[in-house]
Amino acid sequence: MENVKKKNGFASGIGFILAAAGSAVGLGNLWGFPFKTSANGGAAFVFVYIACVLFIGAITMIAEIYIGKRAAANTVASFRNVNKNYGWVGLVVMFIPFLITCYYSVLGGYTLKYAMNSFQGNGGILGTFSVNVGEVILYTALFLAISLLIVMGGVKGGIESASKVLMPILFLILVFIVIFCLCLGEGVSAGLNKYLNPDFYAFFHDANGNLSFNGLLAAMGQAFFSLSLGMGAMVCYGSYTGKEIKVGKSVAMICIFDTCVALLAGLAMFPAIGALLPEQLNSSGGVGLMFAVLPLVFDKMGAIGQIISFLFFAMVAIAAITSVISLVEVVTQLIVQKTKLTRKKSALIVIALAFAISVPVGMSLGKVAILETNGINLFGFDLLTFLDEATNAVLMPLGAFAACFAIGWLFGKKNSVKDWFSPKTLLNNLKEDGLDLGKFGMIFAVMVKYVTPVLVLFLDIAGIITNVTKNPNYWFIVGFALLLVGACTAFYFAFLRKGDLGNNELELLKEQQLENK
Ligand code: PHE
Repeated sequence: MENVKKKNGFASGIGFILAAAGSAVGLGNLWGFPFKTSANGGAAFVFVYIACVLFIGAITMIAEIYIGKRAAANTVASFRNVNKNYGWVGLVVMFIPFLITCYYSVLGGYTLKYAMNSFQGNGGILGTFSVNVGEVILYTALFLAISLLIVMGGVKGGIESASKVLMPILFLILVFIVIFCLCLGEGVSAGLNKYLNPDFYAFFHDANGNLSFNGLLAAMGQAFFSLSLGMGAMVCYGSYTGKEIKVGKSVAMICIFDTCVALLAGLAMFPAIGALLPEQLNSSGGVGLMFAVLPLVFDKMGAIGQIISFLFFAMVAIAAITSVISLVEVVTQLIVQKTKLTRKKSALIVIALAFAISVPVGMSLGKVAILETNGINLFGFDLLTFLDEATNAVLMPLGAFAACFAIGWLFGKKNSVKDWFSPKTLLNNLKEDGLDLGKFGMIFAVMVKYVTPVLVLFLDIAGIITNVTKNPNYWFIVGFALLLVGACTAFYFAFLRKGDLGNNELELLKEQQLENK
């Protein structure tokens, strides 16, 4: 057995960027972004979305990757490394990806089913497939099994290798489909018009013409979800990077790539709908867009439609897999480093638990898909909505806020009260610590300290108020989220504040010892 000290983490900078982009590019880009854009004023939404990516997303991503990178350890250890009393945040942001995994894999299972069924035609199958519990569970299990194999392979051998192959394939398929769809002839421009025509009135008003900030909230929520922020994924991937990675440059590339994929997805879908099913252009929102409307569009393309459908859903499945592995890795990393279990066993436990919860989620979603309301629910919410709202609308913004707060306020030496408030001191602290953002350093310091956390907190609270006013039962979702935060905090102070949490290097040593036995 060779005894050279290997680094536990990504082998190359580009490997890290592709893996992080793989985490970012997912159902959020290919499905969520297009319909949210078309429902919220087209290019007006795109414009605000890009502002959210720049002022909130990129700043938070730098903070998160850096928190992980400087600790080279699991999320609890990473946040504790910023401040002894702050490690509980790492525990909270480990539960968020776990909860997301429970519903994301059900949707991932749908995409696998649709890919495999492409040559039989997917038009109209949503109603039968989604309520066929056995089949839904089977595809969810298949989706989770693929993710399990990748995470078991470790960061370099599993996640990085998979992302390096899958991400270029995904991008090529997407570009091909966009070109194909833009050449469908008449109706393409009507589709594009529906998708991108900037309509600021629609962005700022609801269906009844009342002033509404829902567009704004949707844009911010979308930015978090799409960039995989606020839930430890970037802290975790960041922890596996070394000196070879420039944080600022990597973040720029990940954000650009993620946004391009989102825009391209709409550029494929709407022209196709406009050309082949123009009557659906106005009803192309929600779950329906990907699983009900697009299959009809592919059916109308004739024989070639089956191939396009297969390529399309295979691409979506790939995007979902490279996303879910980042979720599973966050939890696996903590278990493997904190306990005596091996990586393979830890990953298996995470996947098994997520699978157990995904079963009722899948059953609950089936009823939603066929527009029946009397499925399994919690306080009147189907389980997917419940988990999705608790994570997306409440917990993820808090997670992002916590990351910005950690870097902006808790980190580095401060010798006076003035230092505490000074972005200049923060900039120096960051530089001393090893984060050099060049000419953007000062902008980052001001943003991460003053602007981004305030925006995030404001939008989180505004979102909660909006939802609670619409439906008082929403308090249960908020309550669940806060209970989780409370439990994590208590557990951290009781058991994890002191003592060994493990780290990436020790994990490698442990695996080597096991191999040698
Ligand atoms: N970013 C992914 C998407 O756009 C979803 C995701 C969220 C993945 C959180 C990992 C973590 O679909």
